[in-house]
Amino acid sequence: MKILMVTSEAVPFAKTGGLADAVSALSLALSKEGHDVRIIMPRYYRIDRKKLEHLSGAMAVHPGYQEIWTGVYKGMLPDSTVPVYFIDHEQSYGRDGIYGVPGETDFNDNPQRFSLLGHAAFQLCKKIEWIPDIIHAHDWAAALAPILLKFNERHGVFKNTASVFTIHNIGYQGVYGKHLFPYTGLNWDNFYAAGFEDWDRMNFLKGALVSSDKLTTVSPTYAKEIQRPEYGFRMDGILRYRSNDVTGILNGVDTDIWNPEKDPLIASTYGVKSIKKKLLNKEALQKHMGLPVNPDIPLVGMITRLVDQKGVAELFGPTYGSAYRICSEIELQMVVLGSGEAWCEAELSALNQSLPNFSAYIGYDEALSHLIEAGSDFFLMPSRYEPCGLNQMYSLLYGTLPIVRNTGGLADTVINYNEQTGEGTGFVLDHLSPQSIYDTTGWAAYAWYNKPEHIKEMKLRAMKQKFGWDVSAKKYVDVYNAALKDIR
Ligand code: ADP
Ligand code: GLC
Repeated sequence: MKILMVTSEAVPFAKTGGLADAVSALSLALSKEGHDVRIIMPRYYRIDRKKLEHLSGAMAVHPGYQEIWTGVYKGMLPDSTVPVYFIDHEQSYGRDGIYGVPGETDFNDNPQRFSLLGHAAFQLCKKIEWIPDIIHAHDWAAALAPILLKFNERHGVFKNTASVFTIHNIGYQGVYGKHLFPYTGLNWDNFYAAGFEDWDRMNFLKGALVSSDKLTTVSPTYAKEIQRPEYGFRMDGILRYRSNDVTGILNGVDTDIWNPEKDPLIASTYGVKSIKKKLLNKEALQKHMGLPVNPDIPLVGMITRLVDQKGVAELFGPTYGSAYRICSEIELQMVVLGSGEAWCEAELSALNQSLPNFSAYIGYDEALSHLIEAGSDFFLMPSRYEPCGLNQMYSLLYGTLPIVRNTGGLADTVINYNEQTGEGTGFVLDHLSPQSIYDTTGWAAYAWYNKPEHIKEMKLRAMKQKFGWDVSAKKYVDVYNAALKDIR
């Protein structure tokens, strides 16, 4: 099958979160199954053109009223046969930031920038004379592709092409004033028909939810949650209406990158049979973060975007967050790596100053993220909602027991500890509150001190979990086939 992935992020080229990991890893897995997968994304300023091949000739794209001339560059996902096509357009993408920069977190021309991406997908296919069976778009920034397919392109060469849209995070929808709608290149009657209209504004994500042939999201639990008002971010009604077309498929882990037995970014590699060597990573992490080196104290790690979705208000909120109490009342150490909302970064710096057993690094640091997974005993992820979540899966594979909230992909991957039997792979809290994070972290620390045999068994059990992309990729192929059946 020929599959075109339309995305605003893909590792190793551009990443703000798990979307980038998921798109590349899924593409690789499908390619290993023998499918012809290609990716299209913007050529952001930071992606070095010198490392890419320039496709000759400029490409004309016609979003809205204008004609835009773009360049096309081609690269490959590392060690693969998956081509990545980059749309080069100085005015749209020749700047720092993917969606925005600090101080302007959502560029005001994002509707134009990502409309260009949607239109470019079709022009590119014609240019390279490669017509996909499936156009698979990811999150709101790629939403226009399935909408254009349905309303403008499904004739001629694309008449047998079906669309699949994956929701990685329904909290981000791309909502703008409707005066920008002409940039999409759609007729005004499609403003309603394609589902763009949202309280008299335009909503890219909503358009894709209405117009795509099939919809998926990144875990079975999240697929159910988003059909309820608490989690649907106002889209629950449409998703209930389309519930027969919605499938939840758990993301996998790229075990070439996240594997404690061969991870080059950690202090000492280890596996189920050599789990003692995990302690060398704990020591390295404690040293790196300036904490007292001590194997006999539980170490809780956290790696996160510092945004509301991740439960940071309940944990670090200035007056009521529980991090200060956790670190001053429970005998443990805590390490945090993250960047995001300014208030939260300031709060982490304040905690850094006031607590000897707390250490935060504010910024983005790939290598440190691996060392935290390897060196921690527990991994804290009390998300308000979590479509899939990758870090809890990395944690399990690294024998680092997750402390998570019972939601989305966290609920699908972590089994709560049973203190009678010792079963489980982590510690689960139901309702998000400062108190429940405190209680559950305290419970984990209690087990660490008082039930070391349970903790050891849980670590080994966690490390043996399988989160291969091969299984998930097969489920996507089922969805692709169902989408093709729908249009034929
Ligand atoms: P989300 O996409 O909602 O942020 P995920 O758990 O799916 O959540 O993916 C987050 C990804 O981003 C993981 O690969 C994680 O390690 C990485 N990450 C997040 N913040 C940082 C950071 N400050 N430094 C390094 N990696 C980070
Ligand atoms: C989003 C979600 C995260 C998910 C990732 C990849 O960023 O917040 O839970 O793992 O997409 O699908």
